[in-house]
Amino acid sequence: MASLNTPILAIDFGTSNSLVGCVYNGEKTLALPIDDLNSDPTMMRTLLYFPDPDVCYYGQRAIDEFLENDMEGRLFRSFKTHLPNQGYLGTVFNNRVLSLENIIGLFLLELKKRAEKAIGQKVTHVVMGRPARYSMDEVADGFALHRMEKACKFAGFADVQFVPEPLAAAFDYRRSATEEKTILIGDFGGGTSDFTIMRINPKEFSKKDVLSIEGCPMAGDALDSVFMANKLNEYFGAKTRYMLPLARNVMTMPPAVMMRLNHPAHIVHLKEKDTYEFVKEVRRCALTPKDAAGVDRLFAMIEDNQIFPFFESIEASKKELSKSDKSNFKFDYPDIEVYETFSSEQFTTWATDVKNNIISALDRSLQKSGLTEKQIDLVCLTGGTSKVPLIRKEFEARFGQEKLQTQTEFHSVTAGLVEVASIWEKGDKVS
Ligand SMILES: Nc1ncnc2c1ncn2[C@@H]1O[C@H](COP(=O)(O)OP(=O)(O)OP(=O)(O)O)[C@@H](O)[C@H]1O
Ligand SMILES: [Mg+2]
Repeated sequence: MASLNTPILAIDFGTSNSLVGCVYNGEKTLALPIDDLNSDPTMMRTLLYFPDPDVCYYGQRAIDEFLENDMEGRLFRSFKTHLPNQGYLGTVFNNRVLSLENIIGLFLLELKKRAEKAIGQKVTHVVMGRPARYSMDEVADGFALHRMEKACKFAGFADVQFVPEPLAAAFDYRRSATEEKTILIGDFGGGTSDFTIMRINPKEFSKKDVLSIEGCPMAGDALDSVFMANKLNEYFGAKTRYMLPLARNVMTMPPAVMMRLNHPAHIVHLKEKDTYEFVKEVRRCALTPKDAAGVDRLFAMIEDNQIFPFFESIEASKKELSKSDKSNFKFDYPDIEVYETFSSEQFTTWATDVKNNIISALDRSLQKSGLTEKQIDLVCLTGGTSKVPLIRKEFEARFGQEKLQTQTEFHSVTAGLVEVASIWEKGDKVS
């Protein structure tokens, strides 16, 4: 393959945060400035805000404008999560269909424009990160990748090389490696937890060195959800009982509605007409004033667009529990006052399923590599969710504290994608 004489972007399109690096003429830039309004300008929150269907804001500006406009319009977060969902084609907003490919395509186009501005060059080539698995289902996984390809085309990328995010993180580690080692990389983000086991040979890269790539579609967002699913949704009608006119059965709020409430990627859809009308019906038919009170809070939340700030508060509580044993949850918007104290013990119990899913992916990854824990020389943990103590403890217990190493939490995937771009520039592809 001939070497490329064109700038190549390296994009870590994350569920929560996105970063962009670049390689051009042999020169590597590990992280370009893409969001001046963010506390770290080399990182953009993966957010899109439409005050109306013709205007769109991105990253920190999306939040600022959303707050400025009294939270009217549509704010999209965690939309990467929908990629494998064949039932989710997109959304309708003011009678306009917004497909998921276009939502992601718009976001990638914005990243591309900002990167082009930073380097002063037009770009057509990209190394794009992808999770080890968008979904546990092979077909859904392929579907997700196909939609990402379409989104990349929409954004104007003519040539795309997809690279698993945990493999990229391993490439980042490889930059500083001086001796041969077998490493396990765990990348715990907002939407997915990903693993790579790889033999690191500092001299050269060979595809044979990659022993396994595995993952599961659960990470930080799933941990936010457990606060809602186990406790906070009670404030919003999870236990509300209602009886429809002429019916004999007492019913409770259906799981489909609660699922929308419980998950950051789905909350935006609570506003959709069908769900909204249904919840209104539940309110009309609530059994007691106490049953009605929960739905009233849910209405206040939907009508006053408080769902996003509510989840921001949940996330803040979760982060607090990474540092201390207790966290005071406080949300005091009129008509939605919620005060709770969460303990790390409670959180650990609630998060058991999420942790077990993540650990199963780790087990599959070891199994595929044919290695045991003892044969792994070094374990590198990266991604925002690697700060969660219950995750770290599990790795300490399995591999021993001395093998654990933490990579720069947010930049290692991008830095590794830049390495891959640099190999591509010289004429080779790694995956
Ligand atoms: N101190 C902390 N304690 C617990 N969780 C944290 C902390 N800091 C960040 N997180 C979580 O890390 C996640 C974001 O991490 P990251 O930016 O690595 O994800 P991402 O790359 O956007 O997602 P993905 O790779 O899954 O697509 C969020 O869920 C966030 O709540
Ligand atoms: Mg990530």
